[in-house]
Amino acid sequence: MDKPKKVLVSRQFPDIGIQLLEEAGFELTIWPKDRPMYPSELIALSRDHQALLCTLSDMISKEFLEKCCHLEIISQFAVGYDNIDVAEATRLRIPIGFTPDVMSEATADIAFGLMIATARKMFFLHKTILKGEWGYFKPRGNLGMELMGKTLGIFGLGRIGMKMAQRCKNAYGMKIIYHSRRPNPGTEKELDASWVSFEELLARSDVLSVHSVLSHETRGRFNWETFRQMKPTAIFINTARGAIHNETDLIEALSSKQIWGAGLDVTDPEPMARENPLLSMETVCVLPHVGSGTVEARNAMSSVAAENIIEFYRTGTLPYLVNPPALEK
Ligand code: DGY
Repeated sequence: MDKPKKVLVSRQFPDIGIQLLEEAGFELTIWPKDRPMYPSELIALSRDHQALLCTLSDMISKEFLEKCCHLEIISQFAVGYDNIDVAEATRLRIPIGFTPDVMSEATADIAFGLMIATARKMFFLHKTILKGEWGYFKPRGNLGMELMGKTLGIFGLGRIGMKMAQRCKNAYGMKIIYHSRRPNPGTEKELDASWVSFEELLARSDVLSVHSVLSHETRGRFNWETFRQMKPTAIFINTARGAIHNETDLIEALSSKQIWGAGLDVTDPEPMARENPLLSMETVCVLPHVGSGTVEARNAMSSVAAENIIEFYRTGTLPYLVNPPALEK
């Protein structure tokens, strides 16, 4: 680099990535506040920088990209990038980096944990203690359900879906079925899993766990029509993106016992309002989007997001690139 490139860092990411960038000679501006920047702040600050290191709470919209088309690279600290208008970035030839793989174990742990917590009503029962309602042992009360030998349906068998399936198979001998746009024969063999149609996934899953990206095809994919086709004993898990399920329909499906329970690490909107009826339901467990929230995963995400910027300026390409056409000559 002749002149140090300036990188705008939109949040306080783990030190490891920041140090890598500093050691590589970049000049950094780190947004100091705990909250994300407002769109106008992001546009104003980006103007003076060549690279942006951002995350899912930053709206990299068409408007942002039009106003900041001088950016040479955008590196996203997340595996998901539905906050970014990728088509527009590609049109403007701005490469987008992301951080796949490194948070798959952490996110699969949260999906697996939510499945067990929901099956045994753990969050609800914890709240009864806080309210002083422990009372006596109830032979017929507080009953959950067992997972041994049940059928796990995976919607979107990518890296995280696969880790969830491995956990369920190893711990509970669960039968694995999945629905993805394309069958994945290698993974099928490893997990003894079978590809099924979406309708069959709904009808057969005892636990249905969502691991797909949010796109125009998956937005609102789980709605009243789909919940209606699931078993009344089914548990719905979503650790991907909240907008993949329709929340009003989910509330209705749970209240009318169309399905049995739900474990959510993602909601729409985020944060969820304290008054949301899901938070007081017996068979619902909600977490505040912490899938990748381990020291190991967040450090690795920070370093991959930094390496994407460093490698781009060193070699002209990124180890983890969302939009290869942006770099085509
Ligand atoms: C991701 O990386 O997309 C996660 O949702 C952030 O934890």
